[in-house]
Amino acid sequence: MKVLVTGGMGYIGSHTCIALHKAGITPVIYDNLSNASVKVFDQLFTITGERFDYVIGDIGDEAMLTKVLKEHKIEAVFHFAALKAVGESTEQPVNYYQNNVAKTLTMLKVMSKLDIKKIIFSSSATVYGEPQYLPIDEKHPISSTNPYGWSKVMVEQILKDLAQSDEQWLTIALRYFNPVGAHESGLIGESPKGIPNNLMPFIAQTAVGRRDCVSVFGDDYDTPDGTGVRDYIHITDLAAGHVDAFLHHQKGAGQTGTDTGNHAYNLGTGQGYSVLEMIKAFADASQKEIPYTLAPRRSGDIACNYADASLAETNLGWRATKTIEDMAADTWRWQTTYPNGLE
Ligand SMILES: NC(=O)c1ccc[n+]([C@@H]2O[C@H](COP(=O)([O-])OP(=O)(O)OC[C@H]3O[C@@H](n4cnc5c(N)ncnc54)[C@H](O)[C@@H]3O)[C@@H](O)[C@H]2O)c1
Repeated sequence: MKVLVTGGMGYIGSHTCIALHKAGITPVIYDNLSNASVKVFDQLFTITGERFDYVIGDIGDEAMLTKVLKEHKIEAVFHFAALKAVGESTEQPVNYYQNNVAKTLTMLKVMSKLDIKKIIFSSSATVYGEPQYLPIDEKHPISSTNPYGWSKVMVEQILKDLAQSDEQWLTIALRYFNPVGAHESGLIGESPKGIPNNLMPFIAQTAVGRRDCVSVFGDDYDTPDGTGVRDYIHITDLAAGHVDAFLHHQKGAGQTGTDTGNHAYNLGTGQGYSVLEMIKAFADASQKEIPYTLAPRRSGDIACNYADASLAETNLGWRATKTIEDMAADTWRWQTTYPNGLE
């Protein structure tokens, strides 16, 4: 079986290609390289021994997408392609809605026309807005605090409406908590452009000497050590979650027709770690001191956020198995092998 992986050269998409390959599913990568290096392709070959097909293309390009979906006889789409910087989205809302929502609509139209009616969508815990209770389960009210998050809310709603309008559609939204880590080979990982938005790449770049120190925003939250607590999930666990979700529902869809429809799952560990715990884990893994300074809270930040990931475990048989030590060790291996990313 062949599936299209939009954004497949990116951080999460590339790791998911490996998981798909392991499961005997052939990924065809479709990426416009707006936030990825084509060198990922060679790294994937080194890791898997397989040269995946890839197309440099934009999901908004109807003609190109049609050609690729037809030529490869694609059966489902794993949809990672999106812009993802929260701060940037508040400065460029139109770009974000255009790329993440409007182009997704174009893609769904093409898929419908070709009768390809299975999609696994990269959503985010950001669709829960400000947590009203913890741990956050899938029934938590949906909302957002920025255009990036709203773009995820909108696409989720579109997928829900689509599944309701046509009973052949299978639409699965996977709501990621905080993806971190890298492939255990150290050959691929996260390489943000400019100043990292997320904690782990910031810590890693500090450990490797690219940044002077980590700013810890707020040490007076109502948490055990006063710093913010988040649910970090290893990228390999996250990638496996996509395959498990797809295979679970795919099986049902083929045989009984009951597993179409719209589904949403949290992908997290259910366990929160504080900023200081992450810094310590990284210092242990790298055997380096990680300098940090305490800074005032950032507006909009919250004390704690972690998932109730039991639905994915019950329905899909999936659960995260990697530890905070794995997350730190694998990030460190990637960071030291490629301190400036693949470019
Ligand atoms: N990394 C996270 O912390 C996180 C958390 C929650 C959700 N997500 C979502 O997961 C998905 C993957 O994130 P990632 O961290 O791998 O990001 P990434 O930037 O590494 O990967 C996204 C890929 O999509 C490509 N792309 C963007 N727009 C495109 C378009 N119009 N046509 C074709 N390709 C396009 C980029 O070149 C990039 O390779 C995104 O949808 C993101 O919003 C990420």
